[in-house]
Amino acid sequence: MIEFPQHFLWGTATSAYQIEGSPLADGAGPSIWHRFTHTPNLVRDGATGDVACDHYRRFLDDVGLMRDLGTNAYRFSISWSRVMPQGRNAVNPAGLDFYDRLVDALLAHGIEPMVTLYHWDLPAALDDLGGWLNPEIARWFAEYAAVVFRRLDGRVKLWATLNEPWVVTNGGYLYGALAPGHRNRFEAPIASHHLLRAHAEAVRVYRAEGRHRIGIVVNLEPKYPASHDPVDRAATARADAYMNRQYLDPIFRGGYPEELAQIFGEAWPRWPADDFALIRQPIDFLGVNYYTRNVTRFDPHDGLLQAAPVSQKRATYTETGWEVFAPALSDVLVWVKERYGNPPTYVTENGAAFFDPPAVEGDRLADPLRVDYLRQHIKAVHAAIEHGVDVRGYFVWSLLDNFEWSHGYSKRFGIVHVDFDTQKRTPKDSALFYAKVIASKGQAADDPPSRP
Ligand code: BGC
Repeated sequence: MIEFPQHFLWGTATSAYQIEGSPLADGAGPSIWHRFTHTPNLVRDGATGDVACDHYRRFLDDVGLMRDLGTNAYRFSISWSRVMPQGRNAVNPAGLDFYDRLVDALLAHGIEPMVTLYHWDLPAALDDLGGWLNPEIARWFAEYAAVVFRRLDGRVKLWATLNEPWVVTNGGYLYGALAPGHRNRFEAPIASHHLLRAHAEAVRVYRAEGRHRIGIVVNLEPKYPASHDPVDRAATARADAYMNRQYLDPIFRGGYPEELAQIFGEAWPRWPADDFALIRQPIDFLGVNYYTRNVTRFDPHDGLLQAAPVSQKRATYTETGWEVFAPALSDVLVWVKERYGNPPTYVTENGAAFFDPPAVEGDRLADPLRVDYLRQHIKAVHAAIEHGVDVRGYFVWSLLDNFEWSHGYSKRFGIVHVDFDTQKRTPKDSALFYAKVIASKGQAADDPPSRP
């Protein structure tokens, strides 16, 4: 028998560029993702977010889908360049109006909005000024955040500054698979540091102007050593520092993990001590995105970490090549509790890409692997709560199949299928399963598997 707390939030999550479409509509400026997708050969099949799920025009229907599922929360992101086409100074009222209407529609259906201010779509005009490498960006971000707070705070009570700063840096500045596509070991720590400063400046503005709660969303991927060999253990610690502690240690403990200086070597700058007082400002909650774990071993051929994941023979892997391993979600939530003092926590993303089997019985879309993934992970969240972790909500990634960054539309994460030719939405079995879980306060995740 499992029962989640009374006020637990059950939601779905999306992000602006991945679903909205119409990226330049109504006075919006281009983002780095608009630019990246319109540069040949950077994204699979030449896919762009020009149409995506056409959510910009269909958002009322999509809110209707959320209501039908019984969700009581929705995490979405705001496109900075819709609100400020140049990223700073002039505000585009039509851009703000869109999010205003979205928030009202959510509230009208009893769905609590959680707003992410930055989910990777930097205004292209700011990239022209150096983007996350320019120290001024902390001020630009805070200015943008203040504009959004003034319009939506009160109706929005849960704010996240950044989504996954690690991915912004690792994908955007170190390995180049994500916008803006740089590959530079010297840039990576600088971008990370400015992301943290920007986060902190936005929190500072919120303390002066906001009335509710603000936090940050990080992706955590627990690392387990492949053996007891000290070289594997040290490699695991490096991988863990780089991915899991790089952002949380400065925020909760006021300094970077010591492994980072070793990892980056001469590319690791000296940081002004004052920055850490700013970065360490208290936050009201932590958002954890969890997809997978890694079993890690020493690998002298890896240029940065000298560490590599070991593939697990009997495991199931998703279509993005990520091992399905739910116990690590409990582990990582307990780790957050113990290392960082049990902050109020939301699982802000969790889900899986699988090729969906074709429709069976009319419209029904059976996605048993995703149903099983959700079942196991929801139980893992419950197990963490039983261990005393202050988990307050769970958001499935994602509501809709959508634009999966450099994979284009080839990886489907939605619990609702999207036909990208017609924009028809069809809830998959996983959506029906999730609705049952919500209606039963979690119990349905513990029931023996059955057809939805
Ligand atoms: C991101 C999403 C992305 C998902 C699946 C997360 O890293 O926040 O934008 O679609 O993972 O890859």
